[in-house]
Amino acid sequence: MKNLFTVMALIGALFAASAASATPATNTLFAKYKAAGASGFSAERGQKVWTKELLSESGEMMSCTTCHGKDLGKEGKHHKTGKLIKPMAPSANAERFTDAKKIEKWFKRNCNDVLGRECTAQEKGDILTFLLSQ
Ligand code: HEC
Repeated sequence: MKNLFTVMALIGALFAASAASATPATNTLFAKYKAAGASGFSAERGQKVWTKELLSESGEMMSCTTCHGKDLGKEGKHHKTGKLIKPMAPSANAERFTDAKKIEKWFKRNCNDVLGRECTAQEKGDILTFLLSQ
């Protein structure tokens, strides 16, 4: 039994290593987005959504980079509160994308802020693929 667990842990580690810096949390979310009909996640499309500037309700141009910054390896800054936001790139911040609930909570809030609606499962999968590659 113990050996079986070791083998499974090894396979899990290999799987995680092969898919950029995917985490168990992001693997869960990708499965959820696929179940909702999304597929073929693309970092390129994700980056487009991430950087797209839109007129927000408050009358200013906003994108995901408004708070997270243009360089994902560096700290971002909340545009209103000025509060620092830790780097989004998993290569610079190992705590990133390790909690599925947290990811979904912020997707909901931030997509509403920037796009004026929730992101679709496809968009979330694309954005996560992009962010994980950073
Ligand atoms: C108004 C400022 C602001 C904007 C604009 C913004 N975010 Fe965020 N985001 C935050 C804050 C604050 C956090 C939580 C603090 C943290 O995780 O360091 C966060 C966290 C996140 C997380 C959770 C990361 C994790 O490690 O679990 C995701 C995913 C995310 N944002 C996606 C987006 C996307 C996608 C957009 C554009 C549609 C966006 N954000 C735009 C402020 C913002």
